[in-house]
Amino acid sequence: MARTKPKVVVTRKLPDVVETRMMELFDVHMNVDDHLFSREELKRAVAECDVLVPNLTDLIDKSVLENSGTRLKLIANFGNGVDHIDLAVAQAHNITVTNTPDVLTEDTADMTMALMVAVPRRLIEGAQIIRKGEFKGWSPTHMLGHRLHGKRLGIIGMGRIGAAVARRARGFGMAIHYHNRRRLHPELEAEVEATYWESLDQMLARMDVISVHCPHTPATFHLLSERRLKLMKPTAYLVNLARGEVVDEDALITLLKRGKLAGAGLDVFEHEPAVNSEFMSLKNVILLPHMGSATIEGRISMGEKVIINIRAFSDGHQPPDRVLPPQG
Ligand code: DGY
Repeated sequence: MARTKPKVVVTRKLPDVVETRMMELFDVHMNVDDHLFSREELKRAVAECDVLVPNLTDLIDKSVLENSGTRLKLIANFGNGVDHIDLAVAQAHNITVTNTPDVLTEDTADMTMALMVAVPRRLIEGAQIIRKGEFKGWSPTHMLGHRLHGKRLGIIGMGRIGAAVARRARGFGMAIHYHNRRRLHPELEAEVEATYWESLDQMLARMDVISVHCPHTPATFHLLSERRLKLMKPTAYLVNLARGEVVDEDALITLLKRGKLAGAGLDVFEHEPAVNSEFMSLKNVILLPHMGSATIEGRISMGEKVIINIRAFSDGHQPPDRVLPPQG
């Protein structure tokens, strides 16, 4: 006898190939026009489906989860970060939560390096000179930036993405330093010749570039507070492709304006999708619209992970990318 397919609600448009496979496997409600689900739509979705496939633009908080009744069993997040989901409430409702780790690592690390190069080398400013027809020819003092080779990179959060950035940055001739909740296995530390700092404060004061790769949790909210940002050298750069909430944005803007920091490359913002307009006037800042992992290959792999997690769960197995209940 054919088994009934789980009812799955997908909150945003996914690549065609992913949606097609989902249609074959599940009873899917897709978001054809890719609009952002309203609170009401989210509440309705959790009440009516077995599996919700949200992403970071959906706030799955207590008021949404309270509507889930007994039907919703799995939140198969399309994405790595789960800070938009109230995990404590999900756990209280016995809802399993999965994410899509690994498959965004290399793309995000590539984009980190792109920003790390682009800000000190003034890539966007240079490109604009050409487009505005303002290029008057080479001169020894034109468009001078700063070198990465030989500089110290401080990585905050040495998980998969942090380690992938470290490998790339070694290739750029940078010295790798890191702060992490736990020190790396000696083999991995040796591979990238990384120096571990138990004290974030001490590391911040000595680095030429700081790159943020930790998740946003209550413990990391404003981890880079005004006090900590002030510890950075005035010649240092900040790169953030993790979550905007990890950095006190107002303090960052003030320090950039006063020349107390050399520049910043930001792919994420504290109040996304809103971007603080104060950033716009700053020449030493490059702003990107949360596109660190945005490759078609990556998005398809994320979709495949979501499908594998749903299938494993529906077949009565532990889904491989379980966030909740926590893996052993
Ligand atoms: C995620 O999946 O959490 C990323 O921020 C998307 O780029």
